[in-house]
Amino acid sequence: MDLFNENWTPLLMQWYDKNKRELPWRTESPRDPYKVWVSEIMLQQTRVEAVKAYYTNWMEHFPDIPSLAAAEEEEAVRQWQGLGYYSRVRNLHTAVREVMENYGGHVPETREEISKLKGIGDYTAGAILSMAYGKRETAVDGNVLRVFARIYNIEENILSAKVKKEITELVKARQDAERPGDFNEALMDLGATVCIPGQPRCEVCPLAAVCMARAAGKETEIPLRITKKEVPVEHLTVFVVKAAGSCHGVLDTDGEKQQRFTGQAMDGAVADTDFFLLHRRPEKGLLAGMWEFPDCPGKGTEGKESLADVLKGLGLQLVGDLRKSKPVQKIRHVFSHKVWDMEVYPVEAVMGSIPLPPEWQWVSADRMKEYNLAGPHNKIGKNFV
Ligand code: ADE
Repeated sequence: MDLFNENWTPLLMQWYDKNKRELPWRTESPRDPYKVWVSEIMLQQTRVEAVKAYYTNWMEHFPDIPSLAAAEEEEAVRQWQGLGYYSRVRNLHTAVREVMENYGGHVPETREEISKLKGIGDYTAGAILSMAYGKRETAVDGNVLRVFARIYNIEENILSAKVKKEITELVKARQDAERPGDFNEALMDLGATVCIPGQPRCEVCPLAAVCMARAAGKETEIPLRITKKEVPVEHLTVFVVKAAGSCHGVLDTDGEKQQRFTGQAMDGAVADTDFFLLHRRPEKGLLAGMWEFPDCPGKGTEGKESLADVLKGLGLQLVGDLRKSKPVQKIRHVFSHKVWDMEVYPVEAVMGSIPLPPEWQWVSADRMKEYNLAGPHNKIGKNFV
């Protein structure tokens, strides 16, 4: 028997028709997309048993989209109290208001539109579209990954994007074209009650005879789940400091020749290009000797204040009020051993009278490319330097 090409879908659907779990969000036919939506959001990170009572209570308070949209966020959060992960309810409330405003209260029926709503990712979009609208969409969560990894004896890491994509294709190929929502829920039920993590209950599984992991004796070893190792995240505040008005100090280093820019007010020299402040990293350590925009550890107000102090220490006078400024760019740079989370602010500064230490330089925009910028700093400012 060619197990890979075996069409086992009818076996699964017959099993589901006999064994499906009675759950409060499954009682209506056809299903109300709002109710599917609420249940799916509640079921993220929360066990079915814990969700049941919350779901019922929620529908008493907010039975439909208009009632939730009309409620204050506080009231919605109150009814969610105890379920945890409160960004879920805030996003749901925001998204329901979007549905009222942009779609006349009707939950959109395409993946493209529904995915734009706050808090609706790939899985939830597929679940709503298939269960409420009968669309042929997949809803691949951890349960489905596990079930498919076993049926097809997939020994690779199911948490990798590549394997998830491959499994999604297999799910599409096996989907029940007439009942795509039931098919997705059948997989969920099979994963939750039979094809469970650890020791699966193969003796009661409708797919035992077609399961390739079982045939290979690998059903307890699969799926392989390798999470990326946790690496520390360092927050960095970065200023792209543009020279404002007259300044003096060391500018571009040009071989042996060091130009001195004294500015219009002092000797009539006109800077016809913008100058930006760069810092050379120490000779030892990470990204040794490379150039960077001024930065310092920390984020938000704390980061901005610390970095402003560094620049003031160099005799720079910052122009404007930094306190309210928001980052114009956020960069996440992943090293093998840590992550830099960088918030980038544009800043203008007037040079003071103290010459800069050699590791600091004003560099004209057109010569920036001659400077060996440290990797993550290379991503900065293509749009504003
Ligand atoms: N887990 C996530 N969605 C579910 C659903 N619709 N039914 C049962 N368990 C689920």
